[in-house]
Amino acid sequence: MNNSKQSNPAENKRLAEITRKRYNRIAPVYNLMEWFVERATFKPWRKLLWSRVENGSVLEIGVGTGKNIPFYPSGATMTAVDLSNGMMSFAKRKAEDLSKPVDFHQMDVQTLTFPDNSFDTALATFVFCSVPLPVTGLEELNRVVKPGGDIWLLEHVRVNKPMIGFLMDIMNPIIVRIMGANINRQTVQNVETAGLKVLEVENLKGDLVRLIHATPN
Ligand SMILES: C[S@@+](CC[C@H](N)C(=O)[O-])C[C@H]1O[C@@H](n2cnc3c(N)ncnc32)[C@H](O)[C@@H]1O
Repeated sequence: MNNSKQSNPAENKRLAEITRKRYNRIAPVYNLMEWFVERATFKPWRKLLWSRVENGSVLEIGVGTGKNIPFYPSGATMTAVDLSNGMMSFAKRKAEDLSKPVDFHQMDVQTLTFPDNSFDTALATFVFCSVPLPVTGLEELNRVVKPGGDIWLLEHVRVNKPMIGFLMDIMNPIIVRIMGANINRQTVQNVETAGLKVLEVENLKGDLVRLIHATPN
């Protein structure tokens, strides 16, 4: 299920490169692919998530094409990273159009170059389904977020029903190739494995889409 941690740097780099190329390829059609689902469901969830985010220094992981940018709090100092320059080029344009100051970096969440305790808050929406080694990425959040800070994750995860979960496992390799996202990640468990403290998990669509609130440990 690709939830495990790996400590072979060369292999980690190879997996990140596959993901980067995949998202560079998807970038021009990403917004179109998600147009309907974005309007119908994702947007209200984004709104809910950002209503919880406080001002301060905020890091967005996997900014993608910038769908969260309209929700960035005006009092926050925003930093955004993504593995894919192709995706992030759309985000940069959006930030410019909306006159939102954002410090963009092409960076892998598995190997963030920020010093320890750099941010008050880190968040990601629909990202840890595609990070090659999610536990490693989550450990990085544990490191760069200040003690007592907030980590917010909006993620679709493997459903906790034997038959549906099994089908998700079977279909996963095809979906990853087309969409870049794993549909069978167990992100709440990954957050715990990474050593973060889970404060709350809200089910937004059964147990398929979850809003996870965690803090460094
Ligand atoms: C499904 S898209 C979601 C984009 C955006 N967060 C949204 O809500 O629309 C996943 C994004 O995560 C990025 N990503 C995947 N693995 C990453 C990694 N290891 N480090 C940083 N970004 C990554 C991809 O390049 C892509 O832009």
